[in-house]
Amino acid sequence: MSEKNTQLKVSAIKDGTVLDHIPAQNIFQVIDILDLSHAKNPVTIGVNLESKSLGRKGIIKIADRFFADEELSRIALAAPEATVNIIRNYEVVSKKRIDLPAEVVGIAKCSNPMCVTNRQAVTTRFKTIKEGKKVKLLCHYCEKTTEEFIPLRH
Ligand code: CTP
Ligand code: ZN
Repeated sequence: MSEKNTQLKVSAIKDGTVLDHIPAQNIFQVIDILDLSHAKNPVTIGVNLESKSLGRKGIIKIADRFFADEELSRIALAAPEATVNIIRNYEVVSKKRIDLPAEVVGIAKCSNPMCVTNRQAVTTRFKTIKEGKKVKLLCHYCEKTTEEFIPLRH
């Protein structure tokens, strides 16, 4: 072969879930939230791919795995614009946006250092507020608003 293929793309999957339109800088948060570093299925990840709407996007393809809506809603904080594509026999059989849950429990950290959740073993709890493409979190305990999603380490 004399010609080099200059385009390297994340290849298609036969069956599984494709999470598309993830902000490039948040892709590792999504991997974390879905605990994909412990996945047994093949997972392919693309970061900094071109996107018309996001500038640069990330994509995660999980073969042979289908998530419950509740699991998917957890990634809304890191990727509120993400699309969930269900693939069966190479075809996109379903495409939907992620629903932002009204409440978020035990995923995000409160940005207020004085908050009880940062001082004692109290599970965090927030109401979500969507402002344009951003999601803000209103703490159930200290009533402060957290502007940036900070994942809780597990
Ligand atoms: N995809 C895949 N394997 C398949 C079919 C699709 O990995 N067998 C991926 C595509 O690479 C794409 C996503 O699933 O990232 C959605 O596919 P498709 O709807 O065909 O792409 P677009 O039209 O670009 O999607 P959108 O309009 O949501 O941007
Ligand atoms: Zn708080």
